[in-house]
Parts: sequence; C-alpha cells; structure tokens
Amino acid sequence: MEFFETVKKRRSIREYQDKKVPKEMVEKILEAAFYSPSSRNRRPWHFIVVDDRDLIIKLSQARSALKFLETAPLAIVVCGDENISSAWVFDASIAAEHIQLAATALDLGACWGHVLERQHNKEKSAEEYIRELLGIPKHVRILCVIGIGYPAERKPEHSKEEIMWERVHLNKFGNVFK
Ligand SMILES: Cc1cc2nc3c(=O)[nH]c(=O)nc-3n(C[C@H](O)[C@H](O)[C@H](O)COP(=O)(O)O)c2cc1C
Repeated sequence: MEFFETVKKRRSIREYQDKKVPKEMVEKILEAAFYSPSSRNRRPWHFIVVDDRDLIIKLSQARSALKFLETAPLAIVVCGDENISSAWVFDASIAAEHIQLAATALDLGACWGHVLERQHNKEKSAEEYIRELLGIPKHVRILCVIGIGYPAERKPEHSKEEIMWERVHLNKFGNVFK
C-alpha cells in the first residue's frame, strides 16, 4: 500500500475477528517499528508480543480504555529503556505509530491503548499492573499496548475536511498559510 493511502486509511480499530495474525505479518510489523527514528539513535525500544489469550484478557483489564483488547488476537506492549535514553517516550511513540501504520498497510486493524501516567485503580498505576503481569524490569518503561488483528469493524478513511489549515502558520504565528 502506498504511503499516503496508508496514512489516510489508518483508523483506530477496536474490534477484531477471531483469527490469528500470521507470524510473518507480526515480524513485518516489528521490522517497521525498528526502522523508526530515535533520539541520538539510542534505539531504547522493547516490544513484548503477546498472543496468549489469558494474558491479553488481563492486559484489557489494565484500565477501562484498554477494554477493546478483549477481542484482539495480538497485542504489542511498546516500551522504552529509560537507562538508555531520557527521550524514550518520544522514541517509543514513534515506534507505536510505525506499528499502527504497518498493521494498516497489511490490511489489519490496530489501536493504541494508553498506559503511561494512567491508573489501574486508586493504588496501582496501569504501568505497575502490566509490569507485574509480564515481568517487565523497572527501568523498562511502558508507554502503551497496541491491539492488532483482522478488523471486525469498518471505519471511513480520513478526509480533507480534517485538515486544519488555520493551525498552519507561515513564517510567523498567525500568518495565513493557506
Ligand atoms: C497518545 C494516544 C493515546 C491513546 N489512548 C487510547 C486508549 O487508551 N484507548 C483507546 O481506545 N484509544 C486510544 N487512542 C486512540 C485515539 O482515541 C484515536 O487515535 C483518536 O480517537 C482518533 O481516531 P483514529 O485513530 O481512528 O484516527 C490513543 C491515541 C493516542 C495517539
């Protein structure tokens, strides 16, 4: 799929068919993640590929905004090692978007489930909950969980009406660009 077609087609897909994502596709998606740019090329990423049903159900219980993971056959937990880079949030965010675009290009659906700085309950952060669930060491910080699968919902692709030309400034803030 061509780049502009892929970015237009990418939507947050939260319902998935009960069908496994082939290993070759998972590898392609991870390949795309590793092609991400990163601050000072430190490449602080860790990705936890979760295809175990029970674990995915438990991930979906990290917070209500991750409930959509329930039907996902695959989840990728996107992390960054804070000992490798203080810019890990930015680096992991870019990788998370590469993952979503790669999934779209493969005609899969994907959605970002946010973890960092969110709570599981009053006592525990969503990050701590997932850290304990998957045995992730403390210095490996958790940004989000991307749910991936064959889509079971259809959404219209993005359209030109979404483009906010008034937010684009020419040379100086407030100068009309278009
Ligand atoms: C930083 C970030 C956090 C997000 N967190 C969640 C989330 O926790 N749960 C969820 O269902 N969607 C989440 N989303 C998806 C957004 O809701 C979605 O991108 C937005 O509504 C636009 O829709 P679209 O992705 O279909 O274009 C998140 C997206 C981003 C970029």
